[in-house]
Amino acid sequence: MKYGHFDNEHREYVIDRIDLPTSWTNYLGVEKFATVINHTAGGYSFYDSPEYHRISRFRGNAVPMDRPGYYVYLRDRDTKDYFSITWQPVGKDLQKAHYTCRHGLSYTVYECEYDDLFCSQKMSVPRGENVLLWDVKVKNTGDRERNLSLFTYLEFSFHSIAIDNQNFQMSLYCAGSSCRDGIIEEDLYYEPEGYQFFTSSVEPDGFDCVRDKFLGTYHTETDPVAVSQGKCSGSEEKGGNHCGSLQKDFTLQPGEEIRMIFMLGEGRRAEGQRIRRKYSDFDAVDASYEDLARYWEEKASRLRINTPHEGMNTLINIWTLYQSEINVMFSRFASFIEVGGRTGLGYRDTAQDAMTIPHSNPEKCRERILQLLNGLVSQGYGLHLFDPAWFEEEEEGDSFKSPTVIPVSKADRVHGREDACADDALWLIAAITEYIKETGDLSFAGKLVPFADGGEGTVYEHMKKILDFSAEEVGKNGVCKGLRADWNDCLNLGGGESAMVSFLHYWAIMNFIPLAERLGREEDVKHYTRMGEKVKEICDTVLWDKEWFIRGITKEGKKIGTFEDKEGRVHLESNAWAVLSGAAKGEKAQKAMEAVDQYLYTPWGLLLNTPAYTKVDPSIGFITKVYPGLKENSSVFSHPNPWAWAAECVLGNGNTAMKFYDALCPYNQNDKIEIREAEPYSYCQFIVGKDHKEHGRARHPFMTGSGGWSYFSATRYMLGIRPDYDFLNIDPCIPDTWDGFEATRIWRGATYEIEVKNPEHVQKGVKTLCVDGVIRESIPVFPEGGTHRVEIIMG
Ligand code: GLC
Repeated sequence: MKYGHFDNEHREYVIDRIDLPTSWTNYLGVEKFATVINHTAGGYSFYDSPEYHRISRFRGNAVPMDRPGYYVYLRDRDTKDYFSITWQPVGKDLQKAHYTCRHGLSYTVYECEYDDLFCSQKMSVPRGENVLLWDVKVKNTGDRERNLSLFTYLEFSFHSIAIDNQNFQMSLYCAGSSCRDGIIEEDLYYEPEGYQFFTSSVEPDGFDCVRDKFLGTYHTETDPVAVSQGKCSGSEEKGGNHCGSLQKDFTLQPGEEIRMIFMLGEGRRAEGQRIRRKYSDFDAVDASYEDLARYWEEKASRLRINTPHEGMNTLINIWTLYQSEINVMFSRFASFIEVGGRTGLGYRDTAQDAMTIPHSNPEKCRERILQLLNGLVSQGYGLHLFDPAWFEEEEEGDSFKSPTVIPVSKADRVHGREDACADDALWLIAAITEYIKETGDLSFAGKLVPFADGGEGTVYEHMKKILDFSAEEVGKNGVCKGLRADWNDCLNLGGGESAMVSFLHYWAIMNFIPLAERLGREEDVKHYTRMGEKVKEICDTVLWDKEWFIRGITKEGKKIGTFEDKEGRVHLESNAWAVLSGAAKGEKAQKAMEAVDQYLYTPWGLLLNTPAYTKVDPSIGFITKVYPGLKENSSVFSHPNPWAWAAECVLGNGNTAMKFYDALCPYNQNDKIEIREAEPYSYCQFIVGKDHKEHGRARHPFMTGSGGWSYFSATRYMLGIRPDYDFLNIDPCIPDTWDGFEATRIWRGATYEIEVKNPEHVQKGVKTLCVDGVIRESIPVFPEGGTHRVEIIMG
């Protein structure tokens, strides 16, 4: 069953069956002001931090699933009937009203046809301003005059998610609201600069600033008293809960249309006045749409693909790039699942996200990398979850501190080795090398960056510390310790050992050595080559078990993921990383990936491990406490799936890589929404595994490492387009049914128009490479501005 389709011409996903099984979300804003919004305009906004600087409120994990939001009600003054432009919150009968939602890149448009009216509501956050624009149009499509009243509604937040949710005997008396000159202002009495506003391009005929006056006691957003009675009450108050409701009465002749802009913004009434003047001009609104379109076009132009796989084209050119960008921007803490209670950066997640799109967002990737380097303790481990602002603050205590929150001292923020996650900082090595390869900026390695616990070192020195930490933190068998967790949050091996981390360590070392070579650090090249060889040898001797690689060894010496195991027998992470890292070769590598295919493959993607754990075992970790088939306990955990695509490409198996790609591919599940439930334009954190009755149900869109990693593996390994320090490498690994593909890549300012031909229908191998008509060994760095034709014949 499907609920919508991809409209690639407009880069939109069009939902035309609006009663979706779950919220399908989008992200508005590409700078500090951001809104997370779903298919019925439920959602919330924040400025900079979803934890400390909320603009509007959201009731996460509640019923209904998506309130409050940004609602526009229309009431017929003659019949007294009313509806909302988005299906919810009024929820008109779908036999009588038709609703669509079009999620685009940084905007969402809602449309509604009801009772001879055609209405639309476009939501977006323009670049350069801290405001959510609601662009509302109402058209009379009937043949009688219509007397209408329009009401808006949004619920303001008390800024801090904690204050929104606790100690109401305080918070309820510290925020006030007022409406003057057509501008509603909420002020946060306890915060000197705590103001937000709501205004419109029209002179309102009424307003309500007090939530409970607009909604009415015993009413909800579905049937606000102001709307059913046809009149706002003019409420404003010092204290209480506040909303933004403006009323506008108007009459439409047959065929007539009215357009109004509403604006929810950050700042005082004076700022509201400025914004109101600016966006009361429809040309300014339209110009902001064009600006956003250009912003995304510019990003998309850095790599555009045209392959025989329509789903891959759609995802790589539009949606997976978008998802990866959103992760780099919002760092995984703003969604309908992560409702903003945690902010800052998750070390491993951010490092991986920053690795994946240095071509489309070099500035943000660089910023993230530097923040993570600053969050590195001088012993070489990362602060698992930290706020970069900790290190940016001049001094503490300049902003308001709630009397209900216990202050945390700066010293407590730098956690010890015992709380380190074994993989966290290792991901940063590749993020740095990918950044340098993309930009050519070798000097980045010499940049001085402070450590979290004081002192400073160059980027290069930070990298060595990271590699050395993993070399030191090994267990009895010489394999890296699992510590608090490795990539798998629920595998808590402590002093036990993690196969995945040792493979990851090897990969990081292999990424580091070419950089050391480029920088002429011969001693380091020798030292880390030896370190790599040692890691490889230990992996090879300790971690192999008959048909595949084990996952780890508990502190008590019990191996996990062995041939003999009844539960958690085969694991994806260790086998994919054995091959992807290059540590496993030959028969072992082949067999490891065969085991992945044989035991972990499902039509919905690869299981993280199988069979699911059913018995609690604290020596293995929390994974044994999660229900079978969910999350880390044998679901199709999406993030590691692209590791397996890349591993198959390392082995030259383009057919299997594509089989795995296709299984997870959300595009392919567009018509199976009765099972998948979640949006088909976004990878989700996990898909319920086969040991659970809801096998195939996807959960937690957007904020997952599968966004960036699927982009990374598909473009760099499957399509094989990979920048190196001094040349652009193109070494595809594709299905043998493909005749080839085309791509355009902008790299260091020059454009490469790439055509790959596959006349012999191989899966891997480049027979000839021709650049601008000349056969060459590799593709050099060309001067900025030029366009070059690259022709590759596989064979
Ligand atoms: C979640 C976490 C990520 C972790 C993964 C597996 O996605 O954000 O850090 O690697 O789960 O446990």
